[in-house]
Amino acid sequence: MEVKKQLEALEKTLIGKLADVSKPEGLNDVKAEFLGKKAVLSRLMGAMKDLPSEERPAFGERINQTKRRFAALIDEKRAELDAARIEAKLLEERIDVTLPGPDLASGTRHVLNQIVEDIEDLFMGMGYVVKEGPEVECDDYNFERLNIPKHHPARDMQDTFFIDKERLLRTHTSPVQVRTMLEYGGEKPVKIICPGKTYRRDDDDPTHSHQFMQVEGLVVDEDTTMADLKGTLETVAKAMFGANRRIRLRPSYFPFTEPSVEVDVSCAACAGDGCPMCKHTGYIEILGAGMVHNNVLSACGYDPKRYQGFAFGIGIERLAMLKYGIADIRDFYTNDLRFNKQFKRPGGAR
Ligand code: DAH
Repeated sequence: MEVKKQLEALEKTLIGKLADVSKPEGLNDVKAEFLGKKAVLSRLMGAMKDLPSEERPAFGERINQTKRRFAALIDEKRAELDAARIEAKLLEERIDVTLPGPDLASGTRHVLNQIVEDIEDLFMGMGYVVKEGPEVECDDYNFERLNIPKHHPARDMQDTFFIDKERLLRTHTSPVQVRTMLEYGGEKPVKIICPGKTYRRDDDDPTHSHQFMQVEGLVVDEDTTMADLKGTLETVAKAMFGANRRIRLRPSYFPFTEPSVEVDVSCAACAGDGCPMCKHTGYIEILGAGMVHNNVLSACGYDPKRYQGFAFGIGIERLAMLKYGIADIRDFYTNDLRFNKQFKRPGGAR
């Protein structure tokens, strides 16, 4: 029984040592100490030859049992260490997919382009086609066929950059009306908008820029009326400035329309009551419009007896200045990132 006690004590020591092991290398040392050639168990096995032969099988069996038991304890510990190592690695390498990603710097679409795109979306939804025209235009399309002959006083309203006698930088987007009507050949109904850059020989100041943007609109059909014009412009004003805006048409003069109107939108700051923003009128002017002049229809191949049309021209900078309360038109063109970034929309650059 002395051997039995010795083995039990040995197992207790093993269990104690295993409890202290925290690394696989340490486990190898313990294994060598308890199961190696020079271990106590091996020595006991060696001592077996001194026993009477009838006791040897039982003794041998006991030692072997103990060896298996020790090996099992050590394997168990090894499995435990492996599991702990994997667990630690997983914890260390864990990715929290709910963390926000790094903030990638993304650009901002220029506010003028945003407004142009908003207007394009709005009109495309109403069945309009978006047209473009050249910025270097001929006098004929920019003036003549729009009912502004040479020496007409209306030319003074649009001080022009001439390239030579016949070519110029377009002073408005209205020549695209001419181009489209000529393209459509006097038969097809027209329903277009045309956004683009325009140029005038103005001295730059808070409300003038020698280069600016407009969106032109033109509808020509056999039963187009001024009521259609008004309804369309009301839709634009509400889309741009809010659903409770009203518009007001004032008689005006443009050579290419008759009658001509100037269109005002009710002031966003005072809702029409009058305030400094609208110079106490309750309204702010946003665009020019009218029914296409018979001379223009004829000059562009449309029979005024059959066709009528309406047209309008919107200044994009003015729209943006009113919408966002911008005081100086030059801010659009100096490309100060602090200015540009203010108009960042959710979802980044479109
Ligand atoms: N072309 C005009 C301008 O630049 C704006 C304009 C007014 C365009 C009335 C139109 C219109 O088509 O009908 O001042």
